[in-house]
Amino acid sequence: MTNTAIIGLQWGDEGKGKIVDFLAHNFDAVVRFQGGNNAGHTIKVAGNTYKLSLLPSGIISNKLCVIGSGVVLDPVALFNEIYNLTKVGIEISNKNLLIASNCTLILSVHRTLDQLLEEQKGQNKIGTTHRGIGPAYEDRAGRRAVLISDLFCPQTTLERVKNLVFYHNLLRASLKAKLITTEEILQELQPIKEKLLQFAKPSFEIAQILVNKKVLFEGAQGALLDVSYGTYPFVTSSNTMAGQITLGSCLGLNSVNKTLGVIKAYTTRVGSGPFPSELNNEIGEFLRQEGFEFGTVTGRNRRCGWFDVALIKQAIQLSAVSEVALTKLDVLDKLATIKVAVGYKIAGEHYNYLPQNPNLWSKIEPIYQEFEGWQQSTKGITTFSNLPPKAKHYISSLEKLCNIKVSLISTGPNRNETIIC
Ligand code: GDP
Ligand code: IMO
Ligand code: MG
Repeated sequence: MTNTAIIGLQWGDEGKGKIVDFLAHNFDAVVRFQGGNNAGHTIKVAGNTYKLSLLPSGIISNKLCVIGSGVVLDPVALFNEIYNLTKVGIEISNKNLLIASNCTLILSVHRTLDQLLEEQKGQNKIGTTHRGIGPAYEDRAGRRAVLISDLFCPQTTLERVKNLVFYHNLLRASLKAKLITTEEILQELQPIKEKLLQFAKPSFEIAQILVNKKVLFEGAQGALLDVSYGTYPFVTSSNTMAGQITLGSCLGLNSVNKTLGVIKAYTTRVGSGPFPSELNNEIGEFLRQEGFEFGTVTGRNRRCGWFDVALIKQAIQLSAVSEVALTKLDVLDKLATIKVAVGYKIAGEHYNYLPQNPNLWSKIEPIYQEFEGWQQSTKGITTFSNLPPKAKHYISSLEKLCNIKVSLISTGPNRNETIIC
């Protein structure tokens, strides 16, 4: 199998972790190329559940895992994750984990600022994960971030930290928050420095290692949370789409041979922002309970709604997706009727895309196509022919509506609960 990108096509939590874990045995290496520990990827295999935020999902099958330069890395979160995995028998060393040394560090100042800015926004908050993701990416673009490579040299560390503290204190003063000192940040870095440096490698060395390997790229978040193409400003602060692989993975333009999108059989979103097919009723609650739609990272209720064709088509187009994996089919098993949004009516006009104008969002009326539910269990089915005819019809209808081939179907959270089409 050629190098493949796994990209979420909705607002995250599509089941990317499960799909990466399912496919990992075909690859030599798994690479994260954006985001940070705002991600929560759940993997279930042989009775064990693993929750990963920073480590690529290939770590469970002992593949070479790379945290690429596009990731914002919270070292405290990383070492907690490594500790928790080590406790359950997953061995992690610099034999199976490499981190690009030009990764941006997330420090306590970023977590604090994320929280302060959200509090200050009140009703208009984005609903971030409070993990400091946005502030860390801002500091990177603002040329005041501390990079892993800075930790190799005490003088550089000091200069970078001073610069960072100066800027953050300007913001903290205006937000009436306690000021911080350079010393505090240096102390924060002290215990993690050596541990972090053992995994760090220059990007070009990582590129040399990866160049002859079969690589699986693991996206975090989803296309609709992309900072350039998502439902701005209700997005994350990184590019989540396949194009980001070129910049964030240490590999270049020709490194991706295939992009596999991941779509849930319905839609969810965590945090604020438009959601045309949202169900604020008992069906939404049914999807939440049946699909266990509670945030892996923050534990928040995920907002639930019907599958939305317009949003998926947009994401497919913008990431040049060639095939999709359809997840959580089993969650729909008990429903008598399943709806799919196939377009929108907004102030009397027909739209086949979500307009960027926020003033229109509250006026959206989705146009639905209805499907009869199959009302029998698909949980754990592993061959397409064993699916109920009405489930097959739902899948082939989604293929036609989105003009895309479904090449994998997930019928449960466990690795083996998967159909190859
Ligand atoms: P990710 O962020 O895209 O990796 O997705 P998450 O792990 O945050 O959320 C997906 C959730 O659905 C996790 O709890 C998975 O264990 C679970 N899951 C994945 N695929 C399936 C499936 O086909 N059926 C069911 N019922 N659960 C699934
Ligand atoms: P995975 O990889 C779902 C959402 C947050 C918020 C917005 C911005 O598990 O699919 P941030 O902390 O990134 O600044 O928050 O993005 N968000 C996610 N939603 N799944 C994720 O990751 C998410 N990562 C961020 O809820 O609305
Ligand atoms: Mg998730």
